[in-house]
Amino acid sequence: MNIHTFKNEKELNEAGAGIITGLVQMQPSAVLGLATGGTPVGIYEELVKAHKKGHVSFKKVTTFNLDEYVGVPENHPESYHTYMKQHLFDHIDLPADHANIPDGNAASLEEECLRYNRELEKAKQIDLQLLGIGHNGHIGFNEPDHSLVSGTHVVKLKPETRSANARYFASIDEVPTHALTMGVGTILKAKSILLVVRGADKADIIHRALTGPIQTELPATLLQTHPNLVVLLDADAGRLFV
Ligand code: GLP
Repeated sequence: MNIHTFKNEKELNEAGAGIITGLVQMQPSAVLGLATGGTPVGIYEELVKAHKKGHVSFKKVTTFNLDEYVGVPENHPESYHTYMKQHLFDHIDLPADHANIPDGNAASLEEECLRYNRELEKAKQIDLQLLGIGHNGHIGFNEPDHSLVSGTHVVKLKPETRSANARYFASIDEVPTHALTMGVGTILKAKSILLVVRGADKADIIHRALTGPIQTELPATLLQTHPNLVVLLDADAGRLFV
């Protein structure tokens, strides 16, 4: 694995966006796995800038998002559908039908998971999966557990994950209890993984994730098994790596 620590957020954002832009420039029909949360926002801003300068086109790209809340309307300000439009899709030339996000309002969530898996299979392989990490070591919404699921599935969110995401909702009661997420098998099948971590509050978990024993109770430890993992850390998140 390649770990890079950056002095400031601007450099980290430019490096992250540069990796994605470089891939799409070399491989215009790349398949990108995308993440939500606070962590990738600055990278998406840099991608939008690069696109507006004419440096990169997403016309032939296909994207797959990691996850979506269950029961949050698609146009709700905190749905991941809205997030992706707001931070990326509305500002680039990615065709709407090339963007895949699980539907957390499907009549049958089980059927929706199977449909999402079929779409992923049709795309063959994600070329680059952008990832963040939760404070409890979750990736996507694959929460710590005694076992993990390989493909897309419904997950019950842990109390700590609901609390962490409560900052985006009016109150904790409004935070969804369930989500749909790509499984760890799908994430690990990606050709390359770009893991981005920011903040002193993530220093301990990212250190344990990348150096500790591999265990499903800390899902991000599975990333240690990936042959092409690139990790971008800000100085605060990287302080335990010497
Ligand atoms: C969210 C997402 C994850 C994300 C993580 C960290 O709930 N489901 O994909 O990586 O939690 O979020 P943040 O970047 O806001 O800290």
